[in-house]
Amino acid sequence: MTTSVFPPGPKARYPLEFLVRFGNDRIGFLEEMASFGDVSHIAFNNTHMYLLNHPDMIRDLLVTNHRMFSKSRALKVAQRLLGQGLLTSEGDYHLRQRRLVQPAFHRQRMGGYAEVMANYAARTADRWQDGAQVNMAQEMMRLTLAIVGKTLFDADVEDEAPQIGEALTESLHAVNRLLLPGGPTMEKLPLPANRRAEEARQVLNDAVYRIIQERRASGHDRGDLLSMLLEARDEEHDGSQMTDEQVRDEAMTLFLAGHETTANALIWTWYLLAQNPAEERRLHAELDQQLAGRLPTIDDLPNLPYTRMVLSEVMRLFPPAYVVGRQPIEDYEVRGWVIPAGSTVFASQYVMHRDPRYWYDAERFDPLRWTADEIAKRPKFSYFPFSAGPRNCIGESFAWTEGILALATLAQRWRARLMPGLAVALEPMITLRPKHAIEMTLHRR
Ligand code: HEM
Repeated sequence: MTTSVFPPGPKARYPLEFLVRFGNDRIGFLEEMASFGDVSHIAFNNTHMYLLNHPDMIRDLLVTNHRMFSKSRALKVAQRLLGQGLLTSEGDYHLRQRRLVQPAFHRQRMGGYAEVMANYAARTADRWQDGAQVNMAQEMMRLTLAIVGKTLFDADVEDEAPQIGEALTESLHAVNRLLLPGGPTMEKLPLPANRRAEEARQVLNDAVYRIIQERRASGHDRGDLLSMLLEARDEEHDGSQMTDEQVRDEAMTLFLAGHETTANALIWTWYLLAQNPAEERRLHAELDQQLAGRLPTIDDLPNLPYTRMVLSEVMRLFPPAYVVGRQPIEDYEVRGWVIPAGSTVFASQYVMHRDPRYWYDAERFDPLRWTADEIAKRPKFSYFPFSAGPRNCIGESFAWTEGILALATLAQRWRARLMPGLAVALEPMITLRPKHAIEMTLHRR
């Protein structure tokens, strides 16, 4: 017989404390919850929230028992911008769309995307100047936005269509605001920020629909993701294709999901390399030996194992997606606790990736944790930056390719150092990004 008592968790010391902390210190709050045990709980704003912090429970949540969950309420607010794209849709509809979008990420398409990734990173490397001070966060956002614009739409959002980039950034801010406590109420007020968000949504819609129509009219496969979305047919059913609206939702989702996440992984890479010169030297040695100054291609990926280990370790300490949320459809039992249907269940990459039970010297940046021997010593679900199961990241191999090629291209020619006295804080919104500018000085190698 299971009990209906709630698992342990932090208790609010004043009204609305959780609301405030969830807004201001989300990571600290998740860490505090985890300190109560593998299953912890709070009651918050009339909902019950649970954190599951054990690799087996994370596997069951995302893989074994995935059918017992739908995605969390928080993500549903993103439907305003993303419609019924892959991130926000559910059930059979999601399954069909996932099947239709998947071919855009097949290996034979990736070679073309890889070329764009390396070329755009080289453009950044050409633009940088020795001794210059840059905001690395902005630099990496600009780079990954340009890459996703080109690979998705074959459009140059840096030079030819900067308004798309600006509108996307504005929309991302709007979704972030919606996720804050009171966000949905604020969104209804006639504030300048809300007006800007609505204008941005219009700009994006107009641009995406125009591109879709032009592309349908020309019928030409430009080798980008959009061409794949337009051509995809539901062969398992009636052979139908996506409507313009469906293509728009998927394109917008890929645009949003594919840009800030990868940028953050790269930002934190520069940050950690600057503080770990020995690991940086080892990275440089690999790049110099394998590439000897030329641009990397997709065929170089297997020859850059240390570069991949660096990125793995960066995404351990600073996972761009730091928490995933689900809602049980029926009561869900875990370790004798009953989690009622409709509660919110979280698993946090940030918290699990620093759990001393699975990670020696957990706060230290050490890419050598990623040798095959070391990996074999850990439970698989002590690390899940791309989530797992049927709702895992469809862009995972795209992201690895982009991360490795961008880092290899830039770090071959440049190292960066943090400005003295720079305070770095986290701003966990949709993704884990830095709160302030990451001011760094560039040094030509
Ligand atoms: C370092 C980079 C990235 C990280 C860490 C990351 C992480 C994730 C995670 C954790 C999820 C699952 C979210 C959940 O269950 O709530 C996800 C889903 C998704 N990601 Fe990524 N992602 C990255 C890059 C990308 C890229 C480059 C693309 C596309 C070009 C992309 C497209 C998507 C899409 C469409 C989904 C929804 C998949 C579905 O539910 O079927 N992501 N990502």
